[in-house]
Amino acid sequence: MEIIILPTPEEASAVAARLVARQICEKPSSVLGLATGGTPCGLYRELARMHSEEALDFARVTTFNLDEYIGLDPAHQASFHYFMAENFFRHINVPPTLIHIPNGMTADVPAHCEAYEQAIKAAGGIDLQILGLGSDGHLGFNEPGSSLASRTRIKTLTERTRRDNTRFFAERDTVPHHVITMGLGTIMESRMCLLLAFGRGKAEAVAASVEGPVTASVPGSLLQFHPRTKVIIDVEAANALTRADYYRWVYQNKPAWQTNL
Ligand code: GLP
Repeated sequence: MEIIILPTPEEASAVAARLVARQICEKPSSVLGLATGGTPCGLYRELARMHSEEALDFARVTTFNLDEYIGLDPAHQASFHYFMAENFFRHINVPPTLIHIPNGMTADVPAHCEAYEQAIKAAGGIDLQILGLGSDGHLGFNEPGSSLASRTRIKTLTERTRRDNTRFFAERDTVPHHVITMGLGTIMESRMCLLLAFGRGKAEAVAASVEGPVTASVPGSLLQFHPRTKVIIDVEAANALTRADYYRWVYQNKPAWQTNL
């Protein structure tokens, strides 16, 4: 794991955007795994700016989102379909046919999840997976206790996650209990992971994921087994790390051949 601590979420999002842009420039047909939530919004804004001002081209990019609520229509303002369209897709030129988001309205959840896994395989696997972190350490909607080998499937949200996400819903207490999420095993097959976390509220989950034991009780900790993960956080989210000074030194003193972004 490479831990990159930056002063603000804006600076962290800019570094993450440069990593995503480099991936797309090196491989224009990249397959991106995408996350929702407040955390990646700055990254998506910066990528959209790069698209309009620097001609960053998404024409051959394929995307797979991590998760979606069961029972929410794509037009529902709290659905992840709506979120992605508003915050990212309508600002870039990714072809709609290459966008994949689990369908929360499917009549057959297990079959849909299996088809989602097959679609990821058929696209050649995920090159770069963008991840946020739940305040309880969840990845996607893989809540604590999720199997470390899990695949795309139905999950039941904890009350804490439902409470955290109430802010995206116009009416309180309407956050669905059930979701479809890529599994931890699915996420771990991505060739590279970028975990973003900002704010004091994420500090404990970040520390547990980066420096704690690998455990299903903190799904983010599984990334310690991933060969290519970058954790990009702001100072607030770094607050509970015991080796923060070391991570900063590493980032600021890389050998010249290891380009910094
Ligand atoms: C949500 C999403 C996750 C996200 C996490 C953190 O419920 N399913 O993909 O990373 O919770 O959300 P936020 O970025 O808003 O703090």
